[in-house]
Amino acid sequence: MIKSTKSVGIIGTGSFVPEKVLTNNDLEKLVDTSDEWIRKRTGISERHVLDEDVPNYTMGIEAAKRALEDAGVEPEEIDLIIVSTETPDYMSPSMACIIQGAIGAVNAAAFDINAACTGFIYSLSVAQQFIANGVYKHALVIGCEGLSKIVDWKDRNTCILFGDASGAVVLGVVDEGYGILDLFLGSNGAEGMKITIPNLYISEEEKKKRPNGKFNSLWMDGKEVFKFAVKAMSTATMHVLDNLNLDISELDFIFPHQANTRIIDGAIKKLGITDDKIHYIINKYGNISSASIPVAMDEAQRKGKLKKGDNMLLVAFGGGLTWGSMAIKWNK
Ligand code: ACO
Repeated sequence: MIKSTKSVGIIGTGSFVPEKVLTNNDLEKLVDTSDEWIRKRTGISERHVLDEDVPNYTMGIEAAKRALEDAGVEPEEIDLIIVSTETPDYMSPSMACIIQGAIGAVNAAAFDINAACTGFIYSLSVAQQFIANGVYKHALVIGCEGLSKIVDWKDRNTCILFGDASGAVVLGVVDEGYGILDLFLGSNGAEGMKITIPNLYISEEEKKKRPNGKFNSLWMDGKEVFKFAVKAMSTATMHVLDNLNLDISELDFIFPHQANTRIIDGAIKKLGITDDKIHYIINKYGNISSASIPVAMDEAQRKGKLKKGDNMLLVAFGGGLTWGSMAIKWNK
């Protein structure tokens, strides 16, 4: 259980999804696949993608503006911006600095975190410490991912899975007993080569995994990642629930990273959770990496599904390998 002087919670949410839609039928024209295979094996019907010449950070700017508006917080009041991304447009400046400049958050420190699909939980965890310790008052945490740019559109094993989007939250001090109750972060770099996106260096082995020559594309060992994912989601969930002495039946909402419906269903079956506690977005957006939790959360909030006092759990797994979870008592 977190023992800090201040309770820290989400006081505003926002998201942005690009307009352009790529359906499974569109993908049938690119690779040897079918709408039926994709829906059955992944739960995905379509995904949204940015135009190639539009930078990923533009989605983060929009999501950030919407979260600030929802929180009723001015850009100048933000002390810290953390962007979770594995698809930054630049190595430098960071996406966080680009967004800081664009929204006029002139008093904010800004940096990126890359923990792949777990990155949003990692980023929230870091921002939470600054506010709980009284160093900062408001933080903007953004998951921003444009995976369409690092997908090999000739590789049917991966190109059908991913999409582009951004989700953002504003963190601030909330009433005692509300907000972030506990968190857990895990990593296993020894297994890290199961999901790779090369950048400045590529080994001969990694080149062989990319026969179409797109060397900065995402490759993964899908079957191995699948097994890891189901286990990681249930382990991470139980970690925080045990710490808090909370029974799984006391959870009102779960926001899992949405990579494949079968992974979510496998994990919730193992845990004994019903799917009405999940706001599914994977069918329309695909795997949007670290944007998946904040986008789902924003949609659920705007649809009026979340109530003050709800116990919710965020849980994710991803490249690194990484995994993590966070329990929140909803304060909005
Ligand atoms: N359309 C038709 N057939 C396909 C397709 C496709 N798009 N993709 C693969 N197949 C074929 C395979 O070639 C294989 O054929 P074969 O038996 O003749 O060799 C067959 O379908 C079965 O392939 P599998 O890989 O066994 O399919 P599986 O049921 O495991 O599903 C999938 C693949 C969807 C990738 C699954 O393994 C998965 O979701 N894994 C986890 C991925 C994930 O969660 N990644 C998250 C991390 S990514 C990140 O961090 C950004």
